[in-house]
Amino acid sequence: MSPGFAKRTKSLTESKTFVITAAAARMIRHGIDVVNLSAGEPDFNTPDEVKEAGCAAIRNNFTRYTASHGIPELREQISGKLKRDNELSYHPDQIVVTSGAKHALAGSLLAVVDEGDEVLYPKPGWLSYPEMARIAGGVPKPYPCRLENRFRPDPDELRRLINRRTKAIITNSPGNPTGAAFTPSETRAIGSVLAERDIWVLSDEIYEKLRFDGEQHLSFANVAGLFEKTVLVNGVSKAFRMTGWRIGYLAAVTPLAKAVTKVQSQMTSSPCSISQQAAAVAIGGGDGGALPEMVAAFVKRRDIVVRELNAIEGVSCPVPEGAFYALADVSAYLGGTVDGRTIGDDIELCQWLLDEMHLALVPGKPFGADGFIRISFAAADDRIREGMRRLREGLARIKRPVRSAKK
Ligand SMILES: Cc1ncc(COP(=O)(O)O)c(C=O)c1O
Repeated sequence: MSPGFAKRTKSLTESKTFVITAAAARMIRHGIDVVNLSAGEPDFNTPDEVKEAGCAAIRNNFTRYTASHGIPELREQISGKLKRDNELSYHPDQIVVTSGAKHALAGSLLAVVDEGDEVLYPKPGWLSYPEMARIAGGVPKPYPCRLENRFRPDPDELRRLINRRTKAIITNSPGNPTGAAFTPSETRAIGSVLAERDIWVLSDEIYEKLRFDGEQHLSFANVAGLFEKTVLVNGVSKAFRMTGWRIGYLAAVTPLAKAVTKVQSQMTSSPCSISQQAAAVAIGGGDGGALPEMVAAFVKRRDIVVRELNAIEGVSCPVPEGAFYALADVSAYLGGTVDGRTIGDDIELCQWLLDEMHLALVPGKPFGADGFIRISFAAADDRIREGMRRLREGLARIKRPVRSAKK
């Protein structure tokens, strides 16, 4: 007999991106040539100067607990970055360094959400948002970001969704899995609706630097009336190719920063000391200007993926403006059959593509994008081309259901 588990674990789901990536890794370990386009991380390496800073931290025995909200050098670098890049003034004490941007979001939700409070999150949107809201005791409530609206929320619809129970809204631009990146005027239009209400805006800006449309990134903290209500979340994972170092941060008004620090001090003590020193070097300019090179590579790959996807009959994919994901509508194939097997939904499609075509993609369903698949273009050009070839071949083998044969 087991003593049993808390109710919150029963409604929780494991991150599907990690499940698929782990299954693909297992197949690769068994010598199978899997094309893996499921990863949520750049294929570029951490900059050398940053790696050296991590090694130096170890050599210098900088290997102990730090202040819960992070070392002063890193918080000063972040404060400088927010001033330089975002024209936002945060004192270093208004910044909390966390174990990844994910942990900044989780800590913020634990600090602001009471049992039963509603938390608005984008649909389609990153699959961790509703789960983290639930862990905090909140009630996650999706706000639609429809394909017809280029995956943007409609400000009037948002206004209608906010009610007395709403405590916070999570925003994400550039977004995972849609690649939608708001222009400054779109951010202002959405932000002005949020500013009317007394709710927290958790602004996930982790893909800020991965933007392909030449537009400027505007934080919700820049919108009139929102500075005091916004929790700006960012980190080094994506821009500096440091996903495994686990460093993110948030910037917010002092009482919020203090509340998250209290939570963090009891749950993790402090982020990793070694990674913090490395992150300070990264944010201070230690990537040797390599970021534009990576962005240029992503633009080229994005164009390959979008062109190839839209050339497949029955598949359509809007052009992502940021991050490194394409979200393609494959609903025309769902309900179809192949080798006597029915492909009922996008999860079954991704499983079949992995089993039979050795192609790892992520289903849209866990992101609230039923009928879609997510293709990560954080992979080498030739692997992307090979992946698209396998997808084309695989879909051609599926006998499409009659109802959508003309789609
Ligand atoms: C939208 C979004 N926010 C946050 C994160 C987490 O970033 P970190 O690795 O810094 O925790 C991810 C990672 O995939 C993401 O896609």
